[in-house]
Amino acid sequence: MNARDPLQRLRHQLAFWYWATMASLLIVLALFFGYSYDRHATDEIDHLLSATVRGATHEADEHGYSIFPAVQQTTGGLLLYTLDEQGQAATALPAGLPDRSALSGAIAPQGAFHTLQWNNQSWRTLTVPLRNGFLQAAIDTTGLENRENHILWRIVFGCAAALGVAAYGGWWLSNRATQPIDETWSRERRFFSDASHELRTPLAVLQSGLELLRRQTAEHSQARQTVEDLLEEAAQLNTLADELLTLSRLDATDTPKNLESVNWTEILETLLRTRLPLAKQKELQLTWQLTPVLVTAEPDGLRRMSDALIENALRYTPPGGHVNVALTSMQHKALFSVCDDGPGIAPEYLPHLFERFFRVEQSTRTHEAGGTGLGLSIAEAYAQRYHGKIHVKSALGKGSCFSIELPGQ
Ligand SMILES: Nc1ncnc2c1ncn2[C@@H]1O[C@H](COP(=O)(O)OP(=O)(O)OP(=O)(O)O)[C@@H](O)[C@H]1O
Ligand SMILES: [Mg+2]
Repeated sequence: MNARDPLQRLRHQLAFWYWATMASLLIVLALFFGYSYDRHATDEIDHLLSATVRGATHEADEHGYSIFPAVQQTTGGLLLYTLDEQGQAATALPAGLPDRSALSGAIAPQGAFHTLQWNNQSWRTLTVPLRNGFLQAAIDTTGLENRENHILWRIVFGCAAALGVAAYGGWWLSNRATQPIDETWSRERRFFSDASHELRTPLAVLQSGLELLRRQTAEHSQARQTVEDLLEEAAQLNTLADELLTLSRLDATDTPKNLESVNWTEILETLLRTRLPLAKQKELQLTWQLTPVLVTAEPDGLRRMSDALIENALRYTPPGGHVNVALTSMQHKALFSVCDDGPGIAPEYLPHLFERFFRVEQSTRTHEAGGTGLGLSIAEAYAQRYHGKIHVKSALGKGSCFSIELPGQ
């Protein structure tokens, strides 16, 4: 993961929303046209059935149901026949007919429409009650339904093709829309990287010059003190340039494909041994429990990530405090934690801890005690680079516990 990832996520989101909007629009349109077409075709058929039945009803009532003993085949496959009160037709009808399921609904004088599915055939019927039976008109709508299905499939394929084009268009559009952001981002990153790189040489010259001056100025003199202060400032600037360069490199590069298997335990043992003198000097009790753990990472990144947490605990815990470092493995995960009984962090600051340049109570902590506010951002960037997560738990006045979870081997 690197800083390009949010941009990539934005691209995916833009493309997806464009596609989803097009898809909903197409689906609504397809449903509307499909429904309208079906409604229109059914209305036309119903109209034809009504007109045929209306003309014949009067005659059938006058002469009794037997007036239509035979099937009347009119144009367009329309059949007209009478049924007795039990729904028996006086003559042979095509298979599936008469539509007896429509009889119970045919109470009103204008009759009732019904759609009958029989085998693979479909009929639309209009049944009108007579004085002594029913008059039923039926039309074979199988052909019409096949045509409708055909059109429906065309609509479905058309929509699928349109959605394919919309997906491609969405991706192209979102790429175009985010291009200026990408360019600004790259420019800014290059600037950061160049600036921090350029700062290193003059800083090194400054530092060596100041070192020389220190050696030449008398101890306990005012000038010596000024040189000491300047050396400290130069060291801080050096750290800042170094951290900025690290961050800009982490932002610019993806996680390498072939990370090596690294013994995290060994790295921590070396690191902790080098940190012991500082802990002693600060009158802190530094303890550790390390179980052997292998992770897929880069040795230097792993060291810097771990050191950011250890350094913080040693820096912010007051003399007499305890700092405990632990490394365990659990369910294919490596768990590294640094806990202290220092001042703790107020809950309102916790969500901002991993932001660049964020420092808690900047004004209340002394200049010497503080750093640049980039250590935790660097640790988080490394944790994400190795597909891990960083967490913090802290209670004001009780202490803090920072932990990093990486996939184990
Ligand atoms: N163990 C801790 N106890 C109390 N406060 C902490 C602890 N660790 C971090 N913090 C707070 O979180 C802030 C951010 O830490 P971070 O490591 O990012 O920056 P920094 O230590 O100020 O500077 P840098 O590490 O870049 O030299 C710190 O300024 C500090 O206020
Ligand atoms: Mg720090």
